[in-house]
Amino acid sequence: MNRPYNFSAGPAAIPAEVLQQAAAEMLDWHGSGMSVMEMSHRGKEFISIYEQAEADLRELLAVPPEFKILFMQGGGLAENAIVPLNLSRAGTVDFVLSGSWSQKSAKEARKYVADAHIAASGEDSQFTTLPAPESWQLSRGASYVHICSNETIHGVEFQELPDLKALGCDAPLVVDFSSHVASRPVDWSRVGLAFGGAQKNLGPAGLTLVIVREDLLGHALPACPSAFDYKTVADNQSMYNTPPTWGIYIAGLTFQWIKRQTEGGLTGVAALQARNIAKADLFYQYVDQSSFYVNKVAANCRSRMNIPFFLRDESRNDAFLAGARERGLLQLKGHKSVGGMRASIYNAMPIAGVQALVEYMREFEQRNA
Ligand SMILES: Cc1ncc(COP(=O)(O)O)c(C=O)c1O
Repeated sequence: MNRPYNFSAGPAAIPAEVLQQAAAEMLDWHGSGMSVMEMSHRGKEFISIYEQAEADLRELLAVPPEFKILFMQGGGLAENAIVPLNLSRAGTVDFVLSGSWSQKSAKEARKYVADAHIAASGEDSQFTTLPAPESWQLSRGASYVHICSNETIHGVEFQELPDLKALGCDAPLVVDFSSHVASRPVDWSRVGLAFGGAQKNLGPAGLTLVIVREDLLGHALPACPSAFDYKTVADNQSMYNTPPTWGIYIAGLTFQWIKRQTEGGLTGVAALQARNIAKADLFYQYVDQSSFYVNKVAANCRSRMNIPFFLRDESRNDAFLAGARERGLLQLKGHKSVGGMRASIYNAMPIAGVQALVEYMREFEQRNA
């Protein structure tokens, strides 16, 4: 079945194979007589789904044994409160502002911490640049340092995670990797905790992934809700309360899809990384040689997942979007705070989708330039 190409920033496109398998298993999962949505989370059927999903994710992202994988609810925005409730010890936390999502994280943390200190900010450049780690003003004794490693709205991505130790900082690094999780490998030696909603690269909304180093557990503030205390969640294998069972199941199918991906001799996340680089290069190269479209983000921090771009003549925006829709190129309108267009090209977007978009943009440019 030929489906349109969906460039939504999230909830976002899911691989057709995953949706087809979920559809085939909808009424009767593996002869159990039940849909996954109807199963007890404590029954052997669901436990097997959960254990497989966890093991596959651990393998795909090479998560070391000293890290716990938690499947939670609440999304990235809830984590903006849950992380300080668990890790801040009500002390000082450092934030690097690289766009809207890290700004929101700092604002929320202020409710729980003594000082949400801004160690660096790209705001002066309207978040088109990323402050170099060497320039960050890190606090002595901070409980953790928070970054958003891919800013979904501003299209800014850390090409590599900062090495806090090399900057003379012992604090753990907290990473919001909501919008590029599983798009590239993770250097866990630089990370204390990473979190992300599933609805971009892993599956449906409603599932939040948290991967946290064991030694950071057990320090929650007294006011932290039990269901959001990472230690409680970890001690109960993410089943202290009812976990988002459907989300875990679809994420599990997505992990198996990722394991099957190959690209130039690579497999899994490495294959996706190679494909994501090729997709992003194709798009940026076209935009950069065009005098009709523009992307304003500095080349060293351009996102491979979310590409905001503008027509230099914005009066043509509506015509551009209408023509795109007619071609089966969906959800390209930019975020309301930034305007213009945004192409989100997550793992599930094949290179053919980016080729189709670039071809349409070229034709639109030729017709309207
Ligand atoms: C980087 C990032 N962090 C946090 C969020 C918020 O996630 P949620 O809406 O699941 O709370 C988003 C949502 O798009 C995001 O892109």
